Amino acid sequence: MPTTNHMEKDDNWVKIAEHINELDFGGNHIAVVRIERKKICIARFKEELFAFAYTCPHAGGMLIDGYIDAMGNVVCPLHRYKFCMKNGRNVSGEGYYLKHWPVKQTEDGIFVNIKLSGGLFGWL
Ligand code: FES
Repeated sequence: MPTTNHMEKDDNWVKIAEHINELDFGGNHIAVVRIERKKICIARFKEELFAFAYTCPHAGGMLIDGYIDAMGNVVCPLHRYKFCMKNGRNVSGEGYYLKHWPVKQTEDGIFVNIKLSGGLFGWL
């Protein structure tokens, strides 16, 4: 299976959907998917998909209720901190970091490169 990032291990790719049409993007272009017991956000911006944490690293705002700005940052609905969906950088400057994962779309489906360890996430 080809990967979009040679730095990532192939065995960490987890299938989240057969097709993009299965993802329920709201008007804000953010969907939630569940991998095992965890929810993560999948956002669509300019035909690209991004995966990031369900809650904001600042004070737990639900990013599913946020929005994507014109630069491709996710904006938290609680205090409007902004995070780059590509690298997790807190571009509004408060010093937080948004957990995020690579996403790839292939003819076999949509995959997130997320480390699963013994049935639990490595980041639990
Ligand atoms: S909880 Fe997200 S900016 Fe405060």
